[in-house]
Amino acid sequence: RRSYTITLLPGDGIGPEVISVAKSVLSLAASLEHISLQFDELPVGGAAIDLTGAPLPAETLAAAKSSDAVLLGAIGGYKWDTNEKHLKPETGLLQLRSGLGVFANLRPAVVLPQLVDSSTLKREVAEGVDIMVVRELTGGIYFGNPRGFRKDDKGEDFGFNTEVYSGSEIDRIARIAFKVARKRRGMLCSVDKANVLESSMLWRKRVSALAAEFPDVELSHMYVDNAAMQLIRDPKQFDTIVTNNIFGDILSDEASMLTGSIGMLPSASVGESGPGLFEPIHGSAPDIAGQDKANPLATVLSAAMLLRYALGEENAARRIEDAVIETLNMGFRTGDIFSAGMTLVGCKRMGEEVLKSVESRKTTG
Ligand code: NAD
Ligand code: IPM
Ligand code: MN
Repeated sequence: RRSYTITLLPGDGIGPEVISVAKSVLSLAASLEHISLQFDELPVGGAAIDLTGAPLPAETLAAAKSSDAVLLGAIGGYKWDTNEKHLKPETGLLQLRSGLGVFANLRPAVVLPQLVDSSTLKREVAEGVDIMVVRELTGGIYFGNPRGFRKDDKGEDFGFNTEVYSGSEIDRIARIAFKVARKRRGMLCSVDKANVLESSMLWRKRVSALAAEFPDVELSHMYVDNAAMQLIRDPKQFDTIVTNNIFGDILSDEASMLTGSIGMLPSASVGESGPGLFEPIHGSAPDIAGQDKANPLATVLSAAMLLRYALGEENAARRIEDAVIETLNMGFRTGDIFSAGMTLVGCKRMGEEVLKSVESRKTTG
């Protein structure tokens, strides 16, 4: 019997609701595949600030580092929005990503046939979209120095950040993206702002130089403003996108809406070694938190990515993904993906339906 330790970080807002569903689904799929999982649940984000005074307690990072994989819900909320930087939930998440060294964030945006009508785009534009956004996660403007606030001698206030990439940071994320593209349709689009920003000029140069190592991948470049437009105009032109931390943050939220809802998009973050971090791309959704309205499928699909990428448990991952499709086929929808003729359910009920589908595959292995 294979056994693994999973760190669960529910976090804030809808985080605990979606993690509770994902944990049950993960447990069931694992046990049906004769895998034993040990869960270790720890605080992060606002919950950790309230409990320990820090958004990423040392104990949480240590547990995460010593486990086989980390599954996170979401962090953040109105309550902590005006806290000083080091006491913000978001700072805890950035420290976690950085502490785990997970510099490559894979965000797949797939339009499922069942959800074409939930997309805000026309059927013929959305149908068949299958994009992988490879977002650099531990560098760029999120982490660059100098940063901070200052006043000049006239008393004017300034807030400033630094967008910075080293050549080796660009090379390592680009290599991952080329490899991802190679396993997909062999097209890689690097998105930057090389017409204006030095960090992007270096980005484009280094990515271009690597292309020689991957002759089977067709590399193209696009400015980020055009990419934002092209994603809505004709999303099917994209296969794999590689981009920096902040552009990847923005473009992946945009890409999520092609699929019907941000509540559907999972993600996997990996580094050179050590445990990966798996999380939905959405936030803590304070507007619907505590109301049993959240779509848990992004987190459930993140759990499937965890099984595949961190544990190499492909069969268990498939079980979960098949169960999600089956549940959608049965017509169950949370509010964010609801369309006429479907059955509106809450977060918990959606979880129960996915569990039934996971269970019903018991003998098909
Ligand atoms: P958000 O993603 O939390 O919510 C945006 C909108 O999408 C809201 O209307 C919300 O109700 C909806 N939504 C999000 N997830 C959903 C789901 N699973 N099911 C149904 N609807 C869903 O973004 P925001 O409102 O800009 O940010 C709220 C808080 O979350 C902030 O504190 C922000 O910093 C934080 N945040 C955290 C993460 C993370 O933990 N990885 C990601 C993004 C934002
Ligand atoms: C995300 C979020 C985070 C980010 C925030 C909460 C720090 O928006 O995971 O996409 O910007 O990376
Ligand atoms: Mn984001």
